[in-house]
Amino acid sequence: MLLVTGGAGFIGSNFVLSTLAQTGEAIVNLDKLTYAGSLENLGPPNPKHVFVKGDICDRALVRSLLQQHRPRAISRTSAPSQMSPFTNVWRGSAARSATLAGLPA
Ligand SMILES: NC(=O)c1ccc[n+]([C@@H]2O[C@H](COP(=O)([O-])OP(=O)(O)OC[C@H]3O[C@@H](n4cnc5c(N)ncnc54)[C@H](O)[C@@H]3O)[C@@H](O)[C@H]2O)c1
Repeated sequence: MLLVTGGAGFIGSNFVLSTLAQTGEAIVNLDKLTYAGSLENLGPPNPKHVFVKGDICDRALVRSLLQQHRPRAISRTSAPSQMSPFTNVWRGSAARSATLAGLPA
C-alpha cells in the first residue's frame, strides 16, 4: 500500500496510473482538489485505488489514513504549483512535510 498525496495533479495522477498499471499495488490518494487537481486525471474507478478528498495539513485525517492503511511508502506530490514568493513556498512546504512526518509544524 502506498500513500500518494496530490495524486489528482499532473505528476501525481501519472504516478498513480502508472503504478497501478505496472505493479497493481494498492494506493490511497489524498488530494485537496484545488484548481490544479481533477478526478478526470485518474481515469475510470479502480478497486486498488482509494481516493480521499482532503488537505495534507489536516493532521487528524493524515493520522487516520496512516493508521487505517499502513502504507509502506509515501509519495508527496501535493503542492501549489503557481509561482509564489520563495519564503511562502518554503514555509508551506515545510509545514506540510512536517504534518506527513508527524512532526510539529
Ligand atoms: N510539473 C512539473 O514539470 C514539475 C517539475 C518539477 C517539480 N515539480 C513539483 O512537483 C510537485 C507536483 O507538481 P504538479 O505539476 O503535479 O502539480 P499540480 O499543481 O498539477 O498538482 C498538485 C496537486 O496537489 C494537490 N494539492 C495542493 N495542495 C494540497 C494540499 N494542501 N493537500 C492535498 N492536496 C493538495 C492539488 O489539488 C493537485 O492535485 C510540485 O511540488 C511541483 O513544484 C513539478
